[in-house]
Amino acid sequence: MSKQDVSNLKINGDRLWDSLMELATIGGTEKGGVCRIALTDLDRQGRDLFVRWCKEAGCEIRVDKVGNIFARRPGRDNTKPPIMTGSHLDTQPTGGKFDGCYGVMAGLEVIRALNDHGYETEAPLEVSVWTNEEGCRFAPAMTASGVFGGVFTLDYALSRTDPDGVTFGEALKQIGYDGPEAVGGRPVGAFFEAHIEQGPILEREDRTIGVVTAAQGQRWYEIQWTGMESHAGTTPMEGRRDALLGAALLIAEARKIGARPNGRSTVGVIESKPQSRNTIPGRVFMTLDFRHPDDAELTRMDAEMRAAAARIASEHGLEVKIEQIWYFPPTPFDAKCVAAVRAAAEKAGLPHMDIVSGAGHDACYVAKVAPTGMIFVPCKDGISHNEIEDARKDDIAAGCQILLQAMVERANA
Ligand code: GLV
Ligand code: MN
Ligand code: MN
Ligand code: MN
Repeated sequence: MSKQDVSNLKINGDRLWDSLMELATIGGTEKGGVCRIALTDLDRQGRDLFVRWCKEAGCEIRVDKVGNIFARRPGRDNTKPPIMTGSHLDTQPTGGKFDGCYGVMAGLEVIRALNDHGYETEAPLEVSVWTNEEGCRFAPAMTASGVFGGVFTLDYALSRTDPDGVTFGEALKQIGYDGPEAVGGRPVGAFFEAHIEQGPILEREDRTIGVVTAAQGQRWYEIQWTGMESHAGTTPMEGRRDALLGAALLIAEARKIGARPNGRSTVGVIESKPQSRNTIPGRVFMTLDFRHPDDAELTRMDAEMRAAAARIASEHGLEVKIEQIWYFPPTPFDAKCVAAVRAAAEKAGLPHMDIVSGAGHDACYVAKVAPTGMIFVPCKDGISHNEIEDARKDDIAAGCQILLQAMVERANA
């Protein structure tokens, strides 16, 4: 088939859907979701299935030192840098079938569809699986795409620890995905990531395709409160040094700080010690996740939170230690890649709109080393990071068709 026939290259929406559903059985939960935490045996099983399917589709597999997997379909000119797509296979503890997996399976479907049509691109294509996108076991999120993008060192990634003290490197070895390849350091022609929106905008606006122009910024914190353990019955209310009270007051303040236009604020983890109902808690650990599309606003949120924490600490005789463990600035995507996604949606006659990503994505770090764009499709009621996460088969197929179009055009450019 000649280069001019790109719009006749149709992906197979049924096959894509069936692959997503089969993948979702690995770590499938009773409520219809998926719990496949990064670098667990279930993650290995998901990776193994992906690798098997890619080999069956004729791809060559490479794994790098942080466990990123690359499945390559040769082009006519293999000296050209690959046009890459991909996402992640790890999930949240209460994850769904689509977050991450959609982007990986959509990439595989592009390759399968091109095989069906016997179509050869100029540049080679690659489908990538990025390790530990979610960040729920090993913080921060997007760890391995971060190494690929030159934001984190290899040592930094491998030394992240989970709550049980297991390192990323140990867990990676345990599942057999500690590959031999150097991480990154090679040219990538372009990167496109397909993903469900994970929010309500496309569904509300009745658009099939979100043309992602940028991703908002994030700051992640770990906060330690220290007060004093003492007797619940004999310690007067006045003068108590209750670390949990400090945390509770900061949670309320952080919520107010996040309640500005386009702001987001979430406390997801809280641990008070010593976990006794008749001892006043003397130590509390909490996390905080701040997001905003405007970096200046994100900086103001940081300052307001630190001021609130200091005030609460002094009012209640507490010590507070705030550590920002991750900062991820708002990331604009590449103008040409964004335009390619928009043009593909227009050509396909699909209702589309520009959108800023509320979530973090591997694409944000790959964008550091390659021209990058993202394609969003709607998800039901905008719900994600929940087992009931759902999406329409037609929308899933439409996003994959746009992905194929964008990749093939770029590979032939
Ligand atoms: C990752 O899924 C994030 O955006 O929090
Ligand atoms: Mn995701
Ligand atoms: Mn996620
Ligand atoms: Mn994410």
